[in-house]
Amino acid sequence: MPFTQFAVKEKYRYQNGFGSYHESEAVEGALPIGANSPQKPPYGLYAEKLSGTAFTAPRHENLQSWLYRILPASAHSPFEPRESSTYNTNPENKPHEKIHQIPNQLRWDPFDLDETVDWVHSLHLVAGAGDPTMKSGIGIFIFAAGKDMDPHEAFYSADGDFLIVPQHGVLDIQTEFGKILVRPNEICVIPRGIRYRVTLPEGPVRGYILELYQGHFSLPELGPIGSNCLANTRDFQAPVAYFDEDTTNTWHVLSKFAGHLFSAKQTHTPFDIVAWHGLYYPYKYDLGRFNTIGSISFDHPDPSIFTVLTAQSDHPGIAVADFVIFPPRWLVQEDTFRPPWYHRNTMSEFMGLIHGQYDAKTGGGFQPAGASLHNVMSAHGPDATTHEKASNVELKPNKVGERSMAFMFESCLMVGVTDWGLKKCKKVQEDYNAESWEPLKPRFKRPSKIENGKADSKDEI
Ligand SMILES: [Fe+2]
Repeated sequence: MPFTQFAVKEKYRYQNGFGSYHESEAVEGALPIGANSPQKPPYGLYAEKLSGTAFTAPRHENLQSWLYRILPASAHSPFEPRESSTYNTNPENKPHEKIHQIPNQLRWDPFDLDETVDWVHSLHLVAGAGDPTMKSGIGIFIFAAGKDMDPHEAFYSADGDFLIVPQHGVLDIQTEFGKILVRPNEICVIPRGIRYRVTLPEGPVRGYILELYQGHFSLPELGPIGSNCLANTRDFQAPVAYFDEDTTNTWHVLSKFAGHLFSAKQTHTPFDIVAWHGLYYPYKYDLGRFNTIGSISFDHPDPSIFTVLTAQSDHPGIAVADFVIFPPRWLVQEDTFRPPWYHRNTMSEFMGLIHGQYDAKTGGGFQPAGASLHNVMSAHGPDATTHEKASNVELKPNKVGERSMAFMFESCLMVGVTDWGLKKCKKVQEDYNAESWEPLKPRFKRPSKIENGKADSKDEI
């Protein structure tokens, strides 16, 4: 079935299409016709522009939206620093916390749930590269929260786009653009600057976030695959306009700005957009709709065939961040070692598991809510048990990854691990190598005679 059977039913409406020019009005006639900024917008609304790219970005990259709202976003008191000694999510700007650049393969046990904090305080930077002040790099977060955000609070990140991968629980997200429900096996992208409030209708939540400090996510090129498959354009869902009316309560707008937290007060809800149109908006995607491609002859193709979203560097084909998934799929290759090959990569590979068991790691150490990091040129591949099994198994067509969903954040950048990721979280598995690869035995059968590089013809190859 090409979509996920979610335990929690959808409760919102959406408009479909990735990169589509959408428009939505919660009250008919709230969008001006033709003009973006008429002298008097309909219903006494304010017109406000939200720019996700520079005005002059090339047309195919240009992301802007026009918002028609009860009060502009600027109507608030000055921002004040909040929790300045404790709140810091900038990977390269941590005067009191070292970033560890280490070549070791790392694997983490499942991260704990934390019922004591809300979304804003649930964000733990585990690894990252670059600096949001330079708009370069990425941050990789683990989130774990058990409390709704305050009823009169909204949050935004000025640092980058959040790609949210829930692993446990349900996120009910009210954004300025409308409401989005995000469940495990769905992902959600909230672009830089968009304000939102997260509530937890099914209790505690946990998952992963990739924050992209530079550019925006796009769909990968399909090349010879053609015009469909992988993540199909129509399956991305953007919210429809929804507004509240509240000009009496005191609201706090929280800003993550260069990794630090700031707060401003205002006496109106930030969720007052009656209509909007444009290309810059939040969206979600059901990973169960991914149309998986694979080899139908021999060999294990590169995992780039499983790319859902990509954010390219300045050089085409080289990603600052790829979001790649390993969905349930048939393996039919003949005379092939079917799991991933042994590998060293100029890219860094951070993996997580939403549910089930990842078919390349069957030893039990890679668990849902856990993670692994194979940094630049750090060697990795199937563990000894998986290698032994896959080298001897009868190669019938078989389905792998049933009721499972692993994913990877892959980046051309070397990612540093934070103190929290390496020590404070207390989840790093010290025996990762000992369990996975150190047990590998040589299988080389030296020919009895080698002359001029040629083995005796009687020897087994
Ligand atoms: Fe790899």
